[in-house]
Amino acid sequence: MDRIGACGASDAGSIPAEGILNKSLYKKCVRARFPTLNTTTLSIMIISFKPHSREEIPLRVKWLNNREANKYAIENPEHETTTEEQTVWYDRYEQNPYKKFFTIFDDEKPIGFMGLSDIDKEAVAFIMIGEDDYRGKGIGKISLKYLIDYGFKELGLKRMTASTDPRNEPVIKLNKSVGFREISRDERDISWEITK
Ligand SMILES: CC(C)(COP(=O)(O)OP(=O)(O)OC[C@H]1O[C@@H](n2cnc3c(N)ncnc32)[C@H](O)[C@@H]1OP(=O)(O)O)[C@@H](O)C(=O)NCCC(=O)NCCS
Repeated sequence: MDRIGACGASDAGSIPAEGILNKSLYKKCVRARFPTLNTTTLSIMIISFKPHSREEIPLRVKWLNNREANKYAIENPEHETTTEEQTVWYDRYEQNPYKKFFTIFDDEKPIGFMGLSDIDKEAVAFIMIGEDDYRGKGIGKISLKYLIDYGFKELGLKRMTASTDPRNEPVIKLNKSVGFREISRDERDISWEITK
């Protein structure tokens, strides 16, 4: 995949100084900077992260019930979660200072979520790209790097851990690629850590 990341705020010309805010502005900028580029098939992703919000409860239901996304990611993938269940989760989350979750966006479209739980000097990391069209495109890596950075820099963590199903090849590669180290493994689980 070709990546064009050159249209930053300083390249933007007439684009507002606060930066590139959406895909149409970004496309405009790319066309201006690369006039010979065929932009008819130009596919742009603008990945950003926002604190998890109540509005995303229906999406949590959709994503957590997505068999492709949940098959190795959650303890009981056969269980169909509901709006009521996820509302209870969110109500508790809001009151819980030891959890911090983010929604992952492509431009304005929410595509998944990630977060840290049991936050103390350490925390447990989790990530799910819930929208099928968005997995395998490098978004997991960008997102998990952000989460790790957030954990070390903003929360002052010393260590983050993760737990994965040994059949979950994408997350195993992802964890290795962002610096997690395997600390133990059995037939049901691989444990990982990353330290500051
Ligand atoms: C695991 C997950 C977050 C990875 O995110 P992603 O955006 O799909 O992954 P990326 O495109 O950033 O790729 C990360 C690495 O995985 C590899 N990868 C991605 N999809 C893969 C696939 N289907 N099969 C094998 N490897 C794959 C990439 O090649 C890359 O490895 P590299 O850096 O060595 O090249 C995503 O697939 C997902 O949400 N899965 C469902 C939920 C889940 O299992 N979460 C983990 C809970 S523990």
